Amino acid sequence: MDVTGSRAGRAEGKGKRMTSPVLVTGGTGRLGRSVVARLVDAGHEVRVLARRQRDTLPQVTFFAGDLLRGEGIDPAVRGAGAIINCATATKGDAQVTRNLVAAAARAGSPHFVQPSIVGIDLMAQWGYVKTKLEVERIVENSGLPWTILRVTQFYNYCFENSRKLAKFPLVAPVPGGFTVQPVDSREVGARLVGLALGEPAGRAPDMSGPEVSSWKDLFRSYLAATHQRKWVVPMPVPGSKAVRNGALLPGPGHTEGIRTWDQFLTEELGEHRGGLDPASQVKSA
Ligand SMILES: NC(=O)c1ccc[n+]([C@@H]2O[C@H](COP(=O)([O-])OP(=O)(O)OC[C@H]3O[C@@H](n4cnc5c(N)ncnc54)[C@H](OP(=O)(O)O)[C@@H]3O)[C@@H](O)[C@H]2O)c1
Repeated sequence: MDVTGSRAGRAEGKGKRMTSPVLVTGGTGRLGRSVVARLVDAGHEVRVLARRQRDTLPQVTFFAGDLLRGEGIDPAVRGAGAIINCATATKGDAQVTRNLVAAAARAGSPHFVQPSIVGIDLMAQWGYVKTKLEVERIVENSGLPWTILRVTQFYNYCFENSRKLAKFPLVAPVPGGFTVQPVDSREVGARLVGLALGEPAGRAPDMSGPEVSSWKDLFRSYLAATHQRKWVVPMPVPGSKAVRNGALLPGPGHTEGIRTWDQFLTEELGEHRGGLDPASQVKSA
């Protein structure tokens, strides 16, 4: 695997690369929305490709397409200076990526930027993670100028999971011994935009949030912020030895966002009286 970016640099060629318009696949998802917002803030022409249009912004052209089925991709890719591939689903990301890089190659080899997940080579027995590794290989071998950014779990992903855990009555089981360093997806979005507008970097340094924590502590903070009381019981997760040994933590030389989980919670819940999570169905124990 070329982790130096040298091959990515050679594929780039000489001279300044045109980056606009930027295509954001999955631009309606957690990460994609942040990427689109940053690009719009920076005054770029933005295209979004997803299956269903949701809350995209003005200044954004929406393309309906299905990357897995290979439908509607070419019009979105044609003329794009860079592609940030934020599309994902529980299954099929490898085929999605094959279809997208093939369309990109036909369209003149724009800079291809792929978000990925910290530590995936240490956890490759897990289905989704295994596919993410395959995605990285497809991008690296695509012949396109490329950048891959591995990042840790997003706060909004942790928030959604906390909400689900909080639905357990009285006692909530959390994954035992999971050390994590989650990050705000808006900061990841900003980093991806910076990378996409720059020279292809190959494997960029990992990115995480500023604090090392555990699932138990993240969930406890969520409960406190939403004024809920519950027993939090760490449960062993089969096959999670690598994670318990720190596989979800970023590698040496990584970059960090500055926003903390507590800041995220305050902001996410702040609009609602008393910090109560409006989606929580759970009464305080
Ligand atoms: N969530 C995390 O904590 C986390 C952590 C590290 C890295 N990442 C990586 O970040 C990336 C984005 O993740 P996310 O959590 O933001 O995902 P997400 O919220 O689930 O969004 C997925 C997006 O992909 C689109 N999509 C799915 N299947 C598609 C298809 N066949 N054709 C076209 N569009 C499709 C969805 O829109 P439609 O359904 O309308 O098509 C949606 O816009 C992924 O590469 C993921 O592995 C995520």
